[in-house]
Amino acid sequence: MQVLEIKGKKELKGTIRISGAKNSAVALIPATILSDEETTIYNVPNITDIDALSEILTFLGAKVTREKEIIKIDSSKIENKAISEEHSTKLRASYYFLGALLSKYKKAEMYFPGGCSIGARPINLHLKGFEALGATIKSEKNCYKIEAKELKGARIYLDFASVGATINIMLAATKAKGKTIIDNAAKEPEIVNVATLLNNMGAKIKGAGTSTITIEGVEHLHGGFHEVIPDRIEAGTYIIAGALCGKNLKIENIIPKHVEALTSKLKDMHVPLEIGNDYILVSKQENYIPTKLKTLIYPGFPTDLQQPIMVLMTQAEGTSIIEETIYENRFMHIPYLNKMGSNIEVNNQKAVIHGPTKLKGTKVKATDLRAGAAMVLAGLIAEGTTYIENVDHILRGYENIVQKLTNVGAKIELKEI
Ligand code: EPZ
Repeated sequence: MQVLEIKGKKELKGTIRISGAKNSAVALIPATILSDEETTIYNVPNITDIDALSEILTFLGAKVTREKEIIKIDSSKIENKAISEEHSTKLRASYYFLGALLSKYKKAEMYFPGGCSIGARPINLHLKGFEALGATIKSEKNCYKIEAKELKGARIYLDFASVGATINIMLAATKAKGKTIIDNAAKEPEIVNVATLLNNMGAKIKGAGTSTITIEGVEHLHGGFHEVIPDRIEAGTYIIAGALCGKNLKIENIIPKHVEALTSKLKDMHVPLEIGNDYILVSKQENYIPTKLKTLIYPGFPTDLQQPIMVLMTQAEGTSIIEETIYENRFMHIPYLNKMGSNIEVNNQKAVIHGPTKLKGTKVKATDLRAGAAMVLAGLIAEGTTYIENVDHILRGYENIVQKLTNVGAKIELKEI
């Protein structure tokens, strides 16, 4: 079994360069099948989620070539086949193929296991949007068959500003007849990234990044090109690492606006930050101030950084509180942090973090991607050695995490045990 071994208490100095955003790339790649020509995407992170999507594209008959962080996808010869359970269960974002195949062929069939450890994660809002556009949906035992004689523009209100539903409905509406309006749309930067690629390919999308997105359907989409925006969650994770054990640690190739909710919280905690136009310099200092936060949709504090920032709160001089409002089960890292010596109580969707506490290295598990990131951060400051199991969770979302941390002084290794 592979484990991440981390020898704690090393000072992190130097520069970490942020990669392309996983949560953007996993939508941009399925979006390319809407064109019958070659589309190129730059700055794609080299993570296992991208490998899984490339496999699905190849299964459908697309020609996929990857050189480093550039992926070229030629969908001129793809066939609309049912996407098998084995393919679609590799990552949740495979559901973007539902919207893309429905848009292109008015038919899509794939298994969608839904749920994952952090919550039920239903796709009812995605399906509500597809039905509003004229599709009929048959689902049995996680297999979804979606068909439409014709896709017609509609006005769709999202009960929750879901990122996935917003993007999937945008994909499905791109070639629908007439105008679609998505109300209460999610405003995450990744949505803007996808809308920009689609517009580069000839789509007519306005308002991405606001809560009302308008899509004028078009007949044809040509090839295009686009660049994945920097990963704001990867950036936030390493900024927190700098606050924990950095000395002028530079996190570069970021969009500071995208991590504003985090940097504002870190300032409340008295973390010394220097914010440049595309980088942040961060150092550890003594006696952090405790704080309170609630995870919210963008531009509020991102749920994906809830688990990482909780590690910093274990070092604050007093009691901090986190309320998780997006997912129902995103506190699975807490028992492992407490096993390392933190003092965190859970009360429904609220975590109460008493600090400061000294963390001690031990054997822990990554229960999900960002819980795994929290384990890495805890290992970096713990006394002794930390062993993290289920490392696949971490490797699917953090490109070259071992190399990036080693380059700035961490003692971290991927080991077979
Ligand atoms: C995206 O997931 C991200 N994943 C998540 O990042 C991120 O946490 C989330 O957005 C919120 O920012 C990708 O982009 C691949 P949602 P998504 O639809 O689209 C409920 C990470 O660590 N919901 O905004 O699935 C759902 O149950 C991952 O990188 C419905 O009820 O998020 C959840 O409670 C984790 N019905 C909430 O909305 C629906 O049809 C947020 O879901 C859809 C969602």
